[in-house]
Amino acid sequence: MNSEMLYALRDPAGIPSHPIVFLLLGVLTFALHVAAVQVMLGASALVLRGAFSANARWRRLAGTMLSTAKVAVSVAIVIGVAPLLFVQVTYDPFWYTANVLSAWWVIGFIVILIAAYLAMYGFYWRNHDLAAHPTRSAWMMVVSLALMLLVGFIMHVLSAQMLLPNEWQGWYAPDGQVDPSGRSLHAWSLPRFGFFIALSAPVVGAWLLALRRYLQGAGERDAAYLAFLARLSRPLMLVGGVVALALGAVWMATLPPTMAHFATSPWMVGAAVALLATVLVPTLLGARIDRGIWGYAVFGFGAVALIVVAAAREILRYTTLFGQHGYDALDYKINMDWYSTLTFFLTFGVLGSVTLGYLLTVAWKAGQTEGVYTPSPAVTRMGQAAVGLLALWIVHYFVVGFWVMGQ
Ligand code: HEM
Repeated sequence: MNSEMLYALRDPAGIPSHPIVFLLLGVLTFALHVAAVQVMLGASALVLRGAFSANARWRRLAGTMLSTAKVAVSVAIVIGVAPLLFVQVTYDPFWYTANVLSAWWVIGFIVILIAAYLAMYGFYWRNHDLAAHPTRSAWMMVVSLALMLLVGFIMHVLSAQMLLPNEWQGWYAPDGQVDPSGRSLHAWSLPRFGFFIALSAPVVGAWLLALRRYLQGAGERDAAYLAFLARLSRPLMLVGGVVALALGAVWMATLPPTMAHFATSPWMVGAAVALLATVLVPTLLGARIDRGIWGYAVFGFGAVALIVVAAAREILRYTTLFGQHGYDALDYKINMDWYSTLTFFLTFGVLGSVTLGYLLTVAWKAGQTEGVYTPSPAVTRMGQAAVGLLALWIVHYFVVGFWVMGQ
């Protein structure tokens, strides 16, 4: 596949802002997506561990992690849409070809995801209070976790297939026989997939430390439960972090020759150092972890490390497609559209921060209050501003839509 062919597959209309904007947003939103995925997978694994245990602390944790997993799936799905949009803008020749080659799986992705989510809710429906009652229908949670992993694997295959344009023709017409069924998955790297999945252990370990700090702030009286959370989070972070790094090293060692240069690049080294530093943070903090916001800071460090990992992953893709196939994502034709660019950033920055800020503040304060929580006048004003902005956004959407239709 030569570079002219790849360029010919681009959208001739160009893109509405500089490609660097889409690349940076792609990195940032992928990091958020994968963080939510890892919280969800880690929490689901802890649900299973607790559901099969008779220990009261494990069962309490399983109930809490089930609530976490349910929310994390929806966050992972919603935030998954963002990198999907950005990757198909700057890398459309690659992303769409990878999708069409495995179209059956791309459509199946939605069905499998729905089944996975339903299985999780089915388990929840059967087990409203894991701390008080024996586990029922544990198989549903096993099925949910397995299907979630399959969903992630499909995404992984698409990300892998887009990097190998020289293979596309052979996959589409093996031995010269065209196979338009889209039923096959053609390329994957188990160490790469394993690396992203194994990171769920340190990520959920950091999450448990934050949960512990949150419970301390809410006046948790069960000191043994707090100690249990601390004990559990350490090996999850340390052992899980080392396993993830080992899988990352195998991924780098098994890169195809066209990408092998990347294994020793400063980006990859930087990502490894950021991950290693994060898993060591709890040890370095010592007793400080119980003071102020330090208990939450570990998750914050983890988020930064994931952004570095996401950036390294993007550089691998950019350099592979540019260096090996002559495709420069940064020279996409720009058809500057200030209106949509401004709408995006204002929606993301203003509407997003006020609405999310309000929801998080209420959820936070309610959890830290004993008895019934009554919001302060400032929090109430924030809620009113969020509703007002949402109404304004919807009105603006229809006004612009009708105006465009009338042109
Ligand atoms: C709920 C289960 C899901 C899991 C376990 C999961 C897991 C993953 C993993 C591990 C990757 C990295 C693959 C790699 O680089 O090798 C990934 C990438 C990606 N995921 Fe998900 N994912 C899930 C759901 C979704 C959903 C629902 C969407 C979209 C709505 C989505 C959108 C994406 C996109 C677009 C990428 C690739 C981004 C890029 O290449 O820039 N994911 N996902």
